[in-house]
Amino acid sequence: MCGIVGYVGKHKAAPFIIEGLKRLEYRGYDSAGVAVLQDGGFTVAKKIGRVANLEVEAAKIKLNGNYGIGHTRWATHGGVTDANAHPHISSDGQIAMIHNGVIENYSKIKKFLLEKGYTFKSETDTEVLCNLVAYHYAKEPVSADESRFVSAVRKSLRHAEGTYGIVIMALDAPGELVTARKGSPLILGIGDGESIVASDVAAIVSRTQSVVYLKDNEVAHLTPKDFTITTLEAGEVTPVIDKVNWSIEDSEMGNYAHFMEKEIFEQPTALENAMRGRFAEDGSTAQFGGLNISPNEFRQIDRFMFCACGTALHACMVTEHQIERFARLPVECDYASEFRYRNIPLFRNTLFFVMSQSGETIDTLAAMREAKRKGYKVLAINNVVGSTIAREADGGIYQHVGPEVGVASTKAFTSQLLIGAMLALYIGRMRDLSFGAGQRYVTALKSSPDLVRKALLQAPHIKEIAKRYAHYTDMLFLGRLSLFPIALEGALKLKEISYIHAEGYPAAEMKHGPIALISEKCPSVFLAPNGEILNKIVSSMQEIKARKGKIIAIITEGVELPEGLADETIVVPDCHEAVLPIVYSVPVQLLSYYIAVERGCDVDKPRNLAKSVTVE
Ligand code: F6R
Repeated sequence: MCGIVGYVGKHKAAPFIIEGLKRLEYRGYDSAGVAVLQDGGFTVAKKIGRVANLEVEAAKIKLNGNYGIGHTRWATHGGVTDANAHPHISSDGQIAMIHNGVIENYSKIKKFLLEKGYTFKSETDTEVLCNLVAYHYAKEPVSADESRFVSAVRKSLRHAEGTYGIVIMALDAPGELVTARKGSPLILGIGDGESIVASDVAAIVSRTQSVVYLKDNEVAHLTPKDFTITTLEAGEVTPVIDKVNWSIEDSEMGNYAHFMEKEIFEQPTALENAMRGRFAEDGSTAQFGGLNISPNEFRQIDRFMFCACGTALHACMVTEHQIERFARLPVECDYASEFRYRNIPLFRNTLFFVMSQSGETIDTLAAMREAKRKGYKVLAINNVVGSTIAREADGGIYQHVGPEVGVASTKAFTSQLLIGAMLALYIGRMRDLSFGAGQRYVTALKSSPDLVRKALLQAPHIKEIAKRYAHYTDMLFLGRLSLFPIALEGALKLKEISYIHAEGYPAAEMKHGPIALISEKCPSVFLAPNGEILNKIVSSMQEIKARKGKIIAIITEGVELPEGLADETIVVPDCHEAVLPIVYSVPVQLLSYYIAVERGCDVDKPRNLAKSVTVE
């Protein structure tokens, strides 16, 4: 969703802010803008489309000031226009603001402000909040013990319902930024003679690795040399300065054509990082440092509930299969957005998990809060260190795969599959899984980076197949058992980056409806590993073939399909069933990626999508 960068310091603000906005492009946006405080006024450049358009616009006017704010907007209130792009300036010219989130009672506030003589140029809720701050700022007496600026922001926010991550400048307070959050992430970067605020560490790490994660209902006041944090109610906050271990190279593309491609090929290393230090010395089970739940407590658990969205939910569905298969305990998975409103009965010894790459997905966060409200412990499987979900969870497991920039999740997904498999092992070994079976399982998990390396060798072959299939408008992905969620994931990947309509189905379920779609115009991708139900999958393939459907079969080494059944064959290494979904993820990711490239799609910035969805 929207990206935020604010800067006060010894350098010129605009180049740093525009560079930061470029690093946040992956979050998804439709317009961008920057405002700099200089020569006694705000100089603003705003443009719909890419940050590159903004850069051209900004070059036309001189942006020399050292204090500024910049924003990439993903439209919620008001269409995609230059006027609706942020920053917004209050009608008295005193306040400049950028905002992520939604102010739900903006029309009521707007009516009040119109009566007070404030005027509006855009249709946004942000401009309303900006003018509300101006209104309180104008009324605020100058006091010795507290910044008039901070006080006006606090007063305004007490009237704002909804969510926000805001950064504000005041005309007569050069060298100061005020920033506050409720529901939208904000991170402070503490530099040498400069202070930064951004919605994502990617915009900060080029200058400093010292960061403070702002919490909901906190307000921060930044100057080049100092910062203070207080609560919305003016309570004192002792800030904790964290070190980010992401480097600037982690969020750069290197020699790859797209971040998605880079991240697909990074998966062997990502898996190694996700496993590091997480196996017991005897090599028979997994161990996790941050679960905050003792083995004894774990043994009391007799049911698991997993909630997530999109790709992360598919990882939960695979984990459900693994826990049921290897730990013999029931698991339920639900869309986080549905769970919150379904009010499903949870039983006493249920352990609740959420999975989220970003740790900021609002639906997942809301599901987690609902489970906590009901008194359940919630553990999080999450990639972004210090994210809201990570901070609010009772414990959890970090994925440790570094920044994932491509909007389509790839390395985060396979690391979630790996962590899910490790969790199944951990629980299984507390129950019926024997020492020997545990050791075999660990050996299999440890081999996953090499198996993925081997699967990646299929890339040139898959690229050729993609050329032959890029013109289709519909496709089915079919798999069974733990590969059914991989079929769902294959269909999701294809939809989101190539805009081809695709469906994922359990292979045998296909004949109960989707088979009606089959013709020479709708190819099917079959996930067909060696195993006890291979024959059944082959029967499903025959049913497709009989209706002239093309077949791309992804098989494991050693599988021999009847002559002429598959139009295309992709072979991946045979492996233990705990790692099979990880290995199978690679060809479906590559197929979607190469098809999207072949169709000329903007792979890293698919239309309408945002990397982290922070609105409901
Ligand atoms: C698809 C994709 C999305 C995310 C979903 C949840 O490739 O990336 O479906 O998986 O928006 O995001 P996180 O994991 O950040 O909660």
